[in-house]
Amino acid sequence: MKVSSVISDSLEVVKLLQITDTHLFSDEEGALLNVNTRDSFQAVVEMIQAESVEFDAIVATGDISQDHSAHSYQRFLDGIAPLVKPCFWLPGNHDFQPSMGEVLPSNQVQAVEHTLLGKHWQVVVLDSQVVGKPHGRLSDQQLDLLDSKLSEHSARHTLVLLHHHPVLVGSAWLDQHTLKDSDDFWSVVEKHQNVKAVLCGHVHQDFDHKRGDVRVMATPSTCVQFKPRSTDFALDNQAPGWRELSLHACGKVETRVKRLNSTKFMPDFASGGY
Ligand SMILES: [Fe+2]
Repeated sequence: MKVSSVISDSLEVVKLLQITDTHLFSDEEGALLNVNTRDSFQAVVEMIQAESVEFDAIVATGDISQDHSAHSYQRFLDGIAPLVKPCFWLPGNHDFQPSMGEVLPSNQVQAVEHTLLGKHWQVVVLDSQVVGKPHGRLSDQQLDLLDSKLSEHSARHTLVLLHHHPVLVGSAWLDQHTLKDSDDFWSVVEKHQNVKAVLCGHVHQDFDHKRGDVRVMATPSTCVQFKPRSTDFALDNQAPGWRELSLHACGKVETRVKRLNSTKFMPDFASGGY
């Protein structure tokens, strides 16, 4: 893994595009709860292009693959290529890092643990995967990484990326699969003043919450959506989507979620889980 990189170090404002939970298969007919994940991902990329969305880098916050195959990661590489800009990847509970390692890193998609963004921001990329489990945890090494980057670049505003949500989202079935050691995570964050936002995948829904001064966000998947505030597993009838973020010099984060204007990718609502 490349430890660090730099994006556009002269920029006052940095724009990011978040793509998450693509759940791709090797099989081109591969579907999650009746949604062809390759087609829904492609539709998202095409709409981003059609809308001429501006961004300096892409963040892909886990669950790239649903079937663990190297070919599913190749599908991600091929699918994201039209967006051209550098893409940072981190693992989710469904990912299989040995297969990822067969096709990545590429020129576009990088695995880095830290990136300086523009003149005023940094991103710390954390691996919260517990192999074989749906919940997340951060190793001591990951917590030390966060702590050391927050100290080293204390004058920079910080965006933390990880797959699992470190606050409860209000859906009991998803909140069993949260970041289990979130107290340790927040202890590190609270030692410092520079974390402005935390950005996750995993929950397949638009979530935007303040924990103290830190904004915690999660984002619609490019395939199936989970219904917010559900005790039991429940699918939503919202379309696949993505998130756009503008990171300002003063530390302000401007963001919006966008979705496809289509009902083409509705899941099988009779399903009891995935
Ligand atoms: Fe997911």
